[in-house]
Amino acid sequence: MLPPLDDVDRIMAIMETAFPPEFGEAWNRRQVSDSLLLAGTHHGLIAPDGKANLDEGENAAGFFLSRGLFDEEELLLFAIAPAWRRRGLGHLLLTRFIESARQRGKKRLLLEMRRNNPAGILYAAHGFRPIGIRPRYYRTLNGERIDAITQELVIE
Ligand SMILES: CC(C)(COP(=O)(O)OP(=O)(O)OC[C@H]1O[C@@H](n2cnc3c(N)ncnc32)[C@H](O)[C@@H]1OP(=O)(O)O)[C@@H](O)C(=O)NCCC(=O)NCCS
Repeated sequence: MLPPLDDVDRIMAIMETAFPPEFGEAWNRRQVSDSLLLAGTHHGLIAPDGKANLDEGENAAGFFLSRGLFDEEELLLFAIAPAWRRRGLGHLLLTRFIESARQRGKKRLLLEMRRNNPAGILYAAHGFRPIGIRPRYYRTLNGERIDAITQELVIE
């Protein structure tokens, strides 16, 4: 099955502005469309007004992309476009991601983030806890190394 083209466009529009270029975290279009073809991959969009189902041709304000295996699911990408931040959309989208994973029977959610990424405040507010560190995992464009923090949320 082909990935929904509109959704790839919407995700890429956010990808281009949401991830600070110095960390090299953004995926390219090929990576996104290929990943959406893989079994166990899920994505979700959020509109600027918070709704999950976008109208035809409507741009998204944010998205998540995750991959599940057995009863675990890893949040691979999570972003809100800069123009729509600090209005609670990240909170709403994360709530929906957790709920959708729960409904698929997942028991353990995982993610990896750069140390000191403000996203950690949001993750902590939803119950994610650090369970490991990959020292100097990320490399910035100027060669600086930053630890990756693995976070876990166990859900009922
Ligand atoms: C992290 C991100 C998704 C948050 O999206 P958002 O829509 O702004 O999140 P919300 O408005 O729901 O914020 C929820 C809370 O998170 C915290 N928070 C979010 N961004 C913050 C920031 N830049 N600095 C400090 N706290 C922040 C705050 O506690 C905030 O609540 P408040 O606004 O009431 O103070 C967004 O900043 C983003 O896309 N960042 C770039 C991509 C990224 O790093 N993704 C995570 C990869 S692991």
